[in-house]
Formats: sequence, C-alpha cells, structure tokens
Amino acid sequence: MSNSKGTALVTGASSGIGAVYADRLAKRGYDLLLVARDAQRLNALAGRIKAETGRSVEVAAADLTSKTDLAAITKRLREDKAITLLLNNAGMGYNGAMASADLAFTDRLIDLNITAVTHLASAAAANFSAKKSGTLINVSSVLALAPEIASAVYCASKAYVLNLSLTLNTELSDAGVRVQAVLPGATRTEIWERAGIDVNKYPPEMIMDVEPMVDAALAGLDLGELVTIPALPNGKDWDDLNAARLALRPNLSLSKPAPRYTKTHAHA
Ligand SMILES: NC(=O)c1ccc[n+]([C@@H]2O[C@H](COP(=O)([O-])OP(=O)(O)OC[C@H]3O[C@@H](n4cnc5c(N)ncnc54)[C@H](OP(=O)(O)O)[C@@H]3O)[C@@H](O)[C@H]2O)c1
Repeated sequence: MSNSKGTALVTGASSGIGAVYADRLAKRGYDLLLVARDAQRLNALAGRIKAETGRSVEVAAADLTSKTDLAAITKRLREDKAITLLLNNAGMGYNGAMASADLAFTDRLIDLNITAVTHLASAAAANFSAKKSGTLINVSSVLALAPEIASAVYCASKAYVLNLSLTLNTELSDAGVRVQAVLPGATRTEIWERAGIDVNKYPPEMIMDVEPMVDAALAGLDLGELVTIPALPNGKDWDDLNAARLALRPNLSLSKPAPRYTKTHAHA
C-alpha cells in the first residue's frame, strides 16, 4: 500500500499494550512487523489489522529471551532500512521479595526486560542514525520512579529502561532520531495474571484501560515528549523532578569529598 510511514517493529505485540500500539500505528500509516512468542495470536491480530487498515503486516514469532531468536530480530532491525519505528515493549512482571527470589525466573526477566531491550535499542540506534530519521519508543513504567511499591528486580529493570532512554536521546537527537520513554501506571493487561498478581486488589481508580493508555502515550509522542507518564495530571511535576536532578549535576563529581565526610570522628 502507498503512503507508508515505513515499518514499525512492535515487540510484545500479541497482547496488551503492544497489541493496541500495533492497531494504532497501522491506523497512523505504518506497516508492521509484529514480534512475540505466540504465533497464533500474532497471526490473528495481523489478519484483523490488515483487513481494517490495508497495511502490510508481517509476523515474526520469537522468544526474545533466546539468544538465537534475539540475534535474528536484532539483525533484521539493524539491516532493514524500511524499519522506521521500534516499539521496545515486550516485558514481564515479577511478584516476590529479593530474599526469596526465584533466580531462574529473575534471569529470564532480565533477559527480556533489559538484555532484549538493549540489543534492539542498539540496532535501532544504528539503523535510524545512519538514515537520520526514525522513532524509538521504550516502554518503562512508573515503577522506575516508585521502586518502593513493587518487586525490586522489576522496578530496577524499568529504571534501566528509563535511564537508557535518557542517554539514547542525548546520543541520537542530533541525528534526527526521536526517543520516547513511556511510563505507564497500572494498566489492565495480562501481565498481572502472568506474574501471579490480582490487579483487582488495587482500587479501580488506580488502573487504566490499555486503549486510553496507549492513545495518551502516542499523544505524548506527538507533543515531542522524551518522557511520557500517561496518568500524571500535571506534566510540570515531571519537569520539576527532572530539573532538580539536573541541578545536582555541577556538584556530582568534584576533586574533593564533601565537608560532611571529612570531619574527624572520635571512635570509642
Ligand atoms: N500492564 C501494566 O500495568 C504495565 C505498567 C507499566 C509498564 N508495563 C510494561 O508494558 C509492557 C507490555 O506489557 P503488557 O502490560 O502489555 O503485558 P502483556 O499483555 O503480558 O504483554 C506482554 C507481551 O510481551 C510478550 N512476551 C512475553 N514474554 C516474551 C518473550 N520471552 N519473548 C517475546 N515476547 C514476549 C507477550 O507475548 P507472548 O506471550 O506471545 O510472547 C506479550 O505480547 C511491558 O514491558 C511491561 O513491563 C505494563
């Protein structure tokens, strides 16, 4: 079909946030390359989107925690100049304390939420900066900013995605590449059940449906935001937090320790 905005590679497209992004990106004129493990669900979604939008939709079933599968998708993203947008979205949750953590499970989480996101972001950075255009959207979480209220390894993985995005933006903005980190709050998707958490234990006013969440995130992209927090009523609250962080910068690395650490302490 003509007038394509190029191909959007969407990871985690078989359900939840990724499936709604796929729908919205096709309606915005992108052809799609949909990635997740469940080929049947991807094919069903691809069929519906093709029928509704006439866009071209390709499916690539891949387990992004598998080194081989990740390498294949990363290679495609690095080399295929038709790809103009990466939605780095596939992720999984965890429900457990560090002292009793199932380390095999947390390794898989790190493989998916951190390693796969990193490999794909690197390939997108190379592809997009070479042609001086492209859009890289990384799905983080508000838990990057609120690590006290959920599992450490999940929150830390999402803080990684936020910081990765901030540095990527510094590296890529001069090359004409857009970077956006999206920080959803609790959103009604399968991720909760998959992690063994009952989302309905939270007050309903804390949970957003997935369609308005994705539409808000895309509105944030249209506004040119680097960081989009769909639920945050006053965007200035994020700007103020970020300004406070940036104000630390001149004093974060100095030749001498701070005076409070150089007082002589009497030891008993
Ligand atoms: N829902 C929330 O409250 C919330 C809040 C903040 C951030 N997020 C983030 O949003 C992103 C999307 O999550 P969601 O809420 O939409 O959850 P979801 O409905 O469970 O979707 C997760 C997607 O990732 C795919 N996936 C899982 N493991 C994979 C693997 N090993 N390889 C490839 N794909 C895999 C799943 O498909 P297959 O099973 O077919 O592989 C599915 O398409 C995640 O990064 C999550 O951390 C969610």
